[in-house]
Amino acid sequence: MSIPRQPAPPPQPETSGFARVLDRTFGHPSGVLGRLGGWVMARGNAATEHRIVDLAKVEPHETVLVVGPGPGVGLDAAARLAGRAVGVDPSLEMLTLCQERCGDRAELREGSAAHTGEPGESVDVVLSVNNVMLWDDRAAGFAELFRVLRPGGRLLLSAHEKWLPVSRHVLADEAAAAGFADLQTWTWEPPGFAALAAQLRAVKPA
Ligand SMILES: C[S@@+](CC[C@H](N)C(=O)[O-])C[C@H]1O[C@@H](n2cnc3c(N)ncnc32)[C@H](O)[C@@H]1O
Repeated sequence: MSIPRQPAPPPQPETSGFARVLDRTFGHPSGVLGRLGGWVMARGNAATEHRIVDLAKVEPHETVLVVGPGPGVGLDAAARLAGRAVGVDPSLEMLTLCQERCGDRAELREGSAAHTGEPGESVDVVLSVNNVMLWDDRAAGFAELFRVLRPGGRLLLSAHEKWLPVSRHVLADEAAAAGFADLQTWTWEPPGFAALAAQLRAVKPA
């Protein structure tokens, strides 16, 4: 299956060597480092991915959009529950890992939180684990996720709290500004070595 592509992004500002290595490994995984990062994330973040899928209470008739699935652990878990599952990620390396993990269970597309490629009101559940800190424009990201959700649809988001650029309460305010309602936010301690997770649930008003 060929994965739909997007035009090349504009050049990014200069960053330090270490920051570039981290970004190529985990933030925008590419090449050998990206595949290594995918291996690490598939193990280290699995509990959080499963937790968010559990909280979403996905029904068999529902469509789930997974933003930034990385190596695809949460996407695969959601795809086994949903009627339709879509993974959107800017990293071709991660989309390849998703394809290897999910096979035909999930549709895959190159994209981002702000550009999912999904029609409006086509999705029942949006899941985002460990990528909100990478969105270039969070207002555009929340607006896009609001657009693609059906009325009554829900958003479940989780991120390592220490990497968040703003508090989880500010994230909740930003989601509310995009139109989301019933905002809830909390922290969750994953088992093992993963860092404390800041989590958020929101609903598109019916
Ligand atoms: C730290 S990894 C997390 C992967 C996986 N969800 C996990 O927790 O193991 C971040 C993922 O988000 C993707 N990503 C980067 N920028 C993004 C954006 N603007 N929108 C959606 N995903 C993005 C990356 O390509 C990568 O797959």
